[in-house]
Amino acid sequence: MREFKKSSKLDNVLYDVRGPVADEAARMESEGLRILKLNIGNPAPFGFRTPDEVVTDMRQQLPECEGYSDSRGLFSARKAIMQYAQLKGLPNVGMDDIYTGNGVSELIQLCMNALLDTGDEILIPSPDYPLWTACATLAGGTPVHYICDEEAEWNPDLADLESKVTSATKAIVIINPNNPTGAVYPREVLEQIVEIARKHQLMIFSDEIYDRLCMDGIEHVSIASLAPDLPCVTFSGLSKSHMIAGYRIGWMILSGNKRCMRDFVLGVNMLSNMRLCSNVPAQSIVQTALGGHQSVKGYVAPGGRVYEQRNYVYEALNAIPGITAVKPKAAFYIFPKMDVERFNITDDEQFALDLLHEKRILITRGGGFNWGKPDHFRIVYLPRMGILREALDDLADFFEHYRQN
Ligand SMILES: Cc1ncc(COP(=O)(O)O)c(C=O)c1O
Repeated sequence: MREFKKSSKLDNVLYDVRGPVADEAARMESEGLRILKLNIGNPAPFGFRTPDEVVTDMRQQLPECEGYSDSRGLFSARKAIMQYAQLKGLPNVGMDDIYTGNGVSELIQLCMNALLDTGDEILIPSPDYPLWTACATLAGGTPVHYICDEEAEWNPDLADLESKVTSATKAIVIINPNNPTGAVYPREVLEQIVEIARKHQLMIFSDEIYDRLCMDGIEHVSIASLAPDLPCVTFSGLSKSHMIAGYRIGWMILSGNKRCMRDFVLGVNMLSNMRLCSNVPAQSIVQTALGGHQSVKGYVAPGGRVYEQRNYVYEALNAIPGITAVKPKAAFYIFPKMDVERFNITDDEQFALDLLHEKRILITRGGGFNWGKPDHFRIVYLPRMGILREALDDLADFFEHYRQN
């Protein structure tokens, strides 16, 4: 029988969060070793509970859920998302501008396929949430990375961003709040991004899945609320705020200048019809989830688990000689920098493997987020404080002697 090889398109796709180092960790686990996984940003395994109301409501509605829904989603879900969009100031949004998806992930893929032709460029942050780069690549487009500046709280470097616009650029992607850096972009920065998009006639895609997980009293601003004249697509969902990544429910909202998106929308509609619809039982709880008390607020307020764990990890990392980290403002990730000369690090995958083998801690290397230098890694600070303390002690111990060969 001939050999069936994977598509060569995948050779250019990076997905290290679940990549070779994670595979090695799985192999070690299969030998009975215990690995501390600081690599996956899924709250459920770390004891974060789905709000009871959400589970009860899904149980109650399950018998009523039909085998499918409108390809954009149930009316009740989209209405709740529309009201959410209104509260966030998104301009010119009607019911038909809202699409539910099997997570934001599916909608990112759908949009990249709907928008990009071979040769089209799309501006994506570095570091990024790598799904964006992967989906743009698989869709045949060319991801062009703009730098987010660690010296400026990880905000996008606007000069770098604009210098990368070419006649082939179609869109700018922002991830705000950001994974992996935890940055939340201030209004002034967003306004300048809008200005660049306006000047060069670009679409804006804003991934805001962490918008309800901001800390320190920061109010999240949706870039689409500042761009009524531009074509914008805003993404969010319940995976993080309601700890239900496995239920698979996310959404996207088209806003602003929809006239110039007409053809793109035809593509989006075709692709959403092709996948029938998103998970109907998960759609049935969107209304409950978005209304009323938001239990996630307790986690990100002082005294809450996410808030306190963020503070601890930030302090503990910065106390390690050779490690510095910007304080995250949202979500549950921190992206520390290593002094590569001190540790003689030239290969961040090797560093991740060395840490895994010596301390049985699994992190994701910076390169996994399309970061060009081997000097960063990402920690997910979701595990409970006791576990984090142990992990940070182990990290301090590791960096005390680590020199890469
Ligand atoms: C920035 C960002 N966007 C999208 C997603 C995917 O979310 P979903 O579970 O809705 O597919 C994640 C998940 O980690 C993420 O960090």
